[in-house]
Amino acid sequence: MKISFASPKLPRGGALAVGVLEGGDLGAAAKDVDEATDGALSRAIGSSRFAGKSNQTLIVNAPSGLDATRVVLVGLGKADGLDARAAQAVGGTIVATLEKSGDGAVTVALDAVSEAPLDAARLAANIGYGALLRGYRFDKYRTKEKADDKPSLKRLTVTTAEHARARAAFRPLGEVAEGVFLTRDLVSEPANVIFPASLAERAEALTEHGVEVEILDEKRMAKLGMGALLGVAQGSANAPRLVTMRWNGAPRARDKQPIAFVGKGVTFDTGGISIKPSGGMEDMKWDMGGAGVVIGLMRALAGRKARVNAVGMIGLVENMPSATAQRPGDVVTSMSGQTVEVINTDAEGRLVLCDVFWYCQEKYRPSVIVDLATLTGAIIISLGHENAGLFANDDTLADRLVSAGGAVGEPVWRMPLGDAYDRQIDSDIADMKNVGGREGGSITAAQFLQRFIKEGTPWAHLDIAGVTWSKKNAPTVPKGGTGFGVRLLDRLVREHYEG
Ligand code: BES
Ligand code: MN
Ligand code: ZN
Repeated sequence: MKISFASPKLPRGGALAVGVLEGGDLGAAAKDVDEATDGALSRAIGSSRFAGKSNQTLIVNAPSGLDATRVVLVGLGKADGLDARAAQAVGGTIVATLEKSGDGAVTVALDAVSEAPLDAARLAANIGYGALLRGYRFDKYRTKEKADDKPSLKRLTVTTAEHARARAAFRPLGEVAEGVFLTRDLVSEPANVIFPASLAERAEALTEHGVEVEILDEKRMAKLGMGALLGVAQGSANAPRLVTMRWNGAPRARDKQPIAFVGKGVTFDTGGISIKPSGGMEDMKWDMGGAGVVIGLMRALAGRKARVNAVGMIGLVENMPSATAQRPGDVVTSMSGQTVEVINTDAEGRLVLCDVFWYCQEKYRPSVIVDLATLTGAIIISLGHENAGLFANDDTLADRLVSAGGAVGEPVWRMPLGDAYDRQIDSDIADMKNVGGREGGSITAAQFLQRFIKEGTPWAHLDIAGVTWSKKNAPTVPKGGTGFGVRLLDRLVREHYEG
């Protein structure tokens, strides 16, 4: 989808979209169209249930008096509720409505909305942003789709007197969208295409955007003593990788301690010897979702030249059953020196993350660590697909994540940590075991991770198993890989960590 901004004028060809506030009163742009079409809009509204409620739509086809294929009336809701998220939903709804209409282009005629929390420029920019996010599609493997079934809409132009300022406000949003799309692409790819080495290559491509990328292979990881990560990897013919991405955007202090983002990158999770049931196992191609978000986030930060020092680290492995796979009961020694009894080879994500955590802290002494992982099925039982699980050892960091999530529409819900949960993962023969029983499964997983965070480092863990993939369309997120986390963490950085 190509998004642009222009000065107000009626379209020539294509579709036209106009916003209508709740209650159905037409704004200036809609009134112009209504007059040009001899009252077609007000007649259509009068004979329908359209009331301008958020994301309601009404289509007036082929109106006379106007050089447009159709007019889409889109509800803006109440003026005082028209914030950035609501504006994005409006853009997304317009795209969803016209995507397969046959129209190649749509003009969104925008009025300034006086009581809205957004000025005209930011309103326009966010409508464009929402349209862009919803227009995403992963279709590289469709070779036989009929022309009539393919999306037709390619271009959306928002017309506003504030078009220059709108264009400027849109620029960083467009960069964040590129990050979201990269993440969506990576989680959508199948595991025969995305395996540790190939995913590392995709991360390496960020050097084009000014990100420094370093890749460790199996040998280097063995030297560093990453026995937990390597234990997971040993059953696969696809060798593991550990990728570090650095974006040094902080003004002046080049050596300022970075904020670190760590991602679980299990490119396919069969469960290993503790093998999963076959039904639905194809979903485990997106068990690298945390790593996908970290890559997309680094792309977003670099793209908009964020004034921050950030390091992204992803542990990449494939969890397979084979003659060389680790067995339930094996004891592995992590880079931290702590030993782990592997009760269940399907609880592999924490085994990967614990060594990446340790390496990250030893090498960069980050000021903050946020990790993302499709870590547990249990978080889906707790929170469904509406919230990611948030675990943190620091209330300030937790509050910041909750508020950033609310602002961008990627909500996170805080879950507890505590000593009683921690005791569930004590082992009889090693320092800990990798599972703590069914009860509180997401919490004991987080307790495991916390054992690898050094005293004094603010840390938050996002369990994104329920939100990485969606089976239904949402206004700015088409079904499939969501990219959940990129917008959230970009917002976190923008609000709290940019110098
Ligand atoms: N990758 C899975 C978690 C998962 C499940 C992600 C469903 C997305 C959708 C993880 O590695 C796993 O298998 N976790 C186990 C842990 C258990 C063995 C303690 C689980 O959730 O069943
Ligand atoms: Mn697993
Ligand atoms: Zn997994």
